[in-house]
Amino acid sequence: MCGIRGYIGDEDAPPLLYNGLKRMEYRGYDSAGIATISDAKMLVKKDTGKVTEINNKLDFLSMRGNIGIAHTRWATHGGVTRENAHPHASCGLEVAVIHNGIIENYRSLMENLMAEGHHFNSQTDSEIIAHLLEKHYKAYEDEKQAVLKTASDLKGSFAFLAIFTANPNMIIGARKDAPLVIGVGKQGNFLASDILAFIDYTDKVLFLDNREIAIVKGRDMQVYTFEGKPVEKEVTQVAWEAKDTSKEAFAHYTTKEIHEQPQTLKAALYQDPNKVQEFCSAIERAKHIHITACGTSYHVGLILRNLLARLAKIRSDATLSSEFSHDAELIERDCLVIAISQSGETADLLFAVSEAKKRGGEVLSILNAVGASLDRESKLSLYINCGPEIGVAATKSFTGQLILVYLLIFTLLNDTRRLADLRDIWKAVEEVLKMEDKVVEVAKKYKECNDFYFVGRSLHLPIALEGALKLKELAYNHAEGMAGGELKHGTLALIEEGTPVVVLNPEDETYQEMLSNASEMKARGAKIIGVSNRPHEIYDDFIQIPTVDELLYPLVEVVPLQMLAYHTAVLRQRDPDYPRNLAKSVTVK
Ligand code: F6R
Repeated sequence: MCGIRGYIGDEDAPPLLYNGLKRMEYRGYDSAGIATISDAKMLVKKDTGKVTEINNKLDFLSMRGNIGIAHTRWATHGGVTRENAHPHASCGLEVAVIHNGIIENYRSLMENLMAEGHHFNSQTDSEIIAHLLEKHYKAYEDEKQAVLKTASDLKGSFAFLAIFTANPNMIIGARKDAPLVIGVGKQGNFLASDILAFIDYTDKVLFLDNREIAIVKGRDMQVYTFEGKPVEKEVTQVAWEAKDTSKEAFAHYTTKEIHEQPQTLKAALYQDPNKVQEFCSAIERAKHIHITACGTSYHVGLILRNLLARLAKIRSDATLSSEFSHDAELIERDCLVIAISQSGETADLLFAVSEAKKRGGEVLSILNAVGASLDRESKLSLYINCGPEIGVAATKSFTGQLILVYLLIFTLLNDTRRLADLRDIWKAVEEVLKMEDKVVEVAKKYKECNDFYFVGRSLHLPIALEGALKLKELAYNHAEGMAGGELKHGTLALIEEGTPVVVLNPEDETYQEMLSNASEMKARGAKIIGVSNRPHEIYDDFIQIPTVDELLYPLVEVVPLQMLAYHTAVLRQRDPDYPRNLAKSVTVK
């Protein structure tokens, strides 16, 4: 989604803003721009394309000023054009604004402003904010009132930053249903959509809550609610370090993050036992449990539901957050919602959580980004501690969430043997990573196939869904994840000579049935790619994984699927870190 970033301080703003734009590339974007104020003049440079390409053309670094704002855009309203790129300026270039979110009432606001003589240069909903700020700043001659009035005019979701030529020592920001954090640096302050935008410069962070504005004048910072009440904020030190955001010797972030998993799995298990116990007690006490998440995180939710039912005999639902509101009437007053997320900023998820809270539900979460909106909405959060995940595809965050799910289940059951196995599972993941050459061989063989199927049963079904999602998003091959038992109900019709089918088949209760499924498909011409701890003649290609406790296979078998998607993408000359049309953090509904 759009990434926003601002800087005010003693240093030259353009290089800091430009680096910030590059840091935010992982959020996905189609255009970018910077505005600064120098000698009381607003300067705006923006265009479509990649940040480095735009810089080659426009030379962001030649801009001047100790204050500025920068934006990466992921188009929602209005096409991908230079005019629609941010920052947007007011009529007389007195105000420049960047925005993330969607302004729902922009048409009526625009009509009113046009009737008052404002003219618009873009087709975006965001430009409206610049004109409103200009109008209210002129009327009130007070920045706080201007921002509060502007925020109250807007319907929808927004995090915006603005700078004013009339006060070149001030950045204002406001947030409602979109993320905004402030980084407190030694030489100046940063405002941004997420911590990664400034982690190279400071790890001291102040989290704005929903419906708050910030007025940053030089080193002085004030925060108010939308009702104008001052708010005291605490500065938090975050554990992420600048080194976590480097690619090191890897060609892409995605492969670096896949290879980090032995370490990140260990890190996820560093939990405060009291918090884990508290989470488990809430599960035990709950009369109704709803698990909700999006995309890859939802696949973790499916495994949580399976394990709760199977091992702890606890019933729960797992619902995609984007579908949650359609079932909202069924949410019981005393329900427990378990929300799973890497970013903690996914708009559909936050909406689901707020629907549940409105109905009296209690929210617990499993997430990576400490201090994210989900964290602040949750009664209790367990963090997966996997560090920043820059590749757009979730990899290490998936296994981090999943190992926490196992930690909760085994703690709930007081299963000390399996808890010990869990602590050692990273070793099996390390073994699987050594199979990379075999995975590359498979990727080379099937890279041009138009359709892939991933098939699994029980705990392996969410991994089949995950394997298909990874391949689609990274390599753009069409792929489907299927339950083995469902093949006969339709999909078998699509199996032709040479169709690759990845069969998730470690030795557990599903083993024999999956072999039968594999032979049904092979009889119809499929090429069977077996992922198992045990070789079998039915497999045309075989990726061997180590033997582990039978409940823990999902943590291990997903790794070759991540590598398969990555290598297929590279072989097909896709950019695995920044897949087309996708954004890391989906902050609009
Ligand atoms: C897929 C992927 C997405 C995310 C989804 C939820 O690789 O990354 O499907 O899993 O957008 O994001 P979070 O977990 O941040 O809520």
